[in-house]
Amino acid sequence: MFDQTTEVSGSPVVSGMFGRNPVFRDIITANPEMEKIFHVIEKVAGTNSTVLILGDSGTGKELIARALHDLSGVSGPFVPVNCGAIPDNLLESELFGHEKGAFTGAISSKPGRFMLANNGTIFLDEIGEMTPNLQVKLLRVLQERVIEPVGGVKSQPVNVRVIAATNVNLWEKVQEGSFREDLYYRLQVVPIELPSLSERPEDITILANHFSHEYALQNNRRPLVFSPEVLQVFGRYRWPGNIREFENLIERLTILVDGDAVYVEHLPRYLCEQSDVDGFDWRSSELPEDGLDFNSVVDSFENSLIMQALERTKGNKKAAAELLNLNRTTLVEKIKKKGIGVKRDEEETQLKAAR
Ligand SMILES: Nc1ncnc2c1ncn2[C@@H]1O[C@H](COP(=O)(O)OP(=O)(O)OP(=O)(O)O)[C@@H](O)[C@H]1O
Ligand SMILES: [Mg+2]
Repeated sequence: MFDQTTEVSGSPVVSGMFGRNPVFRDIITANPEMEKIFHVIEKVAGTNSTVLILGDSGTGKELIARALHDLSGVSGPFVPVNCGAIPDNLLESELFGHEKGAFTGAISSKPGRFMLANNGTIFLDEIGEMTPNLQVKLLRVLQERVIEPVGGVKSQPVNVRVIAATNVNLWEKVQEGSFREDLYYRLQVVPIELPSLSERPEDITILANHFSHEYALQNNRRPLVFSPEVLQVFGRYRWPGNIREFENLIERLTILVDGDAVYVEHLPRYLCEQSDVDGFDWRSSELPEDGLDFNSVVDSFENSLIMQALERTKGNKKAAAELLNLNRTTLVEKIKKKGIGVKRDEEETQLKAAR
């Protein structure tokens, strides 16, 4: 069986999960930055301060917002609003509610999400998409803690914790004039910046195992086991869609891979092609300013060629050796030395024996 508790991408997998507040149990991580974020959340949870969560798409902003809400122990609900997904003309009534007859189609009065979140938390996702008109109204709510339903004459007090999130650079929006500076400062009383998945090498193996168990359960099959080479490819890929993209891939592999073991040949091609070593793309002929580690780059170049040859020949080492103009024995030796994946059927036998 592959050992998935040792090194991935040069970083030892540490378990940072012991002693952590159970509210964070759905957030799988061993990353020190994430641990710091948990401490910030613990500190801010008991207050009513506005929190702004920054991070690329799929980094877990909503997951963090929910944990913050759960930890705060408030009696009201967690109400998420995706400001980017609701048309501008509807967002105001969606947030603040409306009175009967406020606009065509308003046949009865309706409470907004702020009111629904009373004594709880409202999560304003994609806050950067909010129009200037609504930004002013939101600022007023944050400052005065009252809302004005569309078509209404009376302000209504609300007691709501506001968490906002964005994957755009809000400060850039402030500078180009599309986001109000006063609202920006009002929102980011406590800013939390989530690292992207490529900045969390220690999370790759534990997340792979976590999702593999989750989707195994859902699909009524045994969890996948990843070859060391596959984990290396995972560790080198940039994951533009971050944890969501990673999760989707593991779900896909759970459905498509026959047997329990995942080899490089099972991975989508782009994953292997786009992964590079420590930020150095071996396809580029330029030596980086600050140099590189010759052995690891050459090693990675070799690995990549061998992996591609094995992938193209569906694991047939004789054919792969021919593609690379190598003796079969030389290739087999390299594969063994590099641990690139024991012969598929041998591995299956080992897996069976280990069970
Ligand atoms: N650390 C983690 N452990 C386990 N699952 C995670 C983790 N981070 C994110 N996820 C999962 O990844 C998916 C995306 O997370 P989430 O929706 O919180 O991201 P997001 O930053 O809000 O994304 P977007 O910018 O697209 O709105 C969810 O299915 C979530 O459960
Ligand atoms: Mg989100």
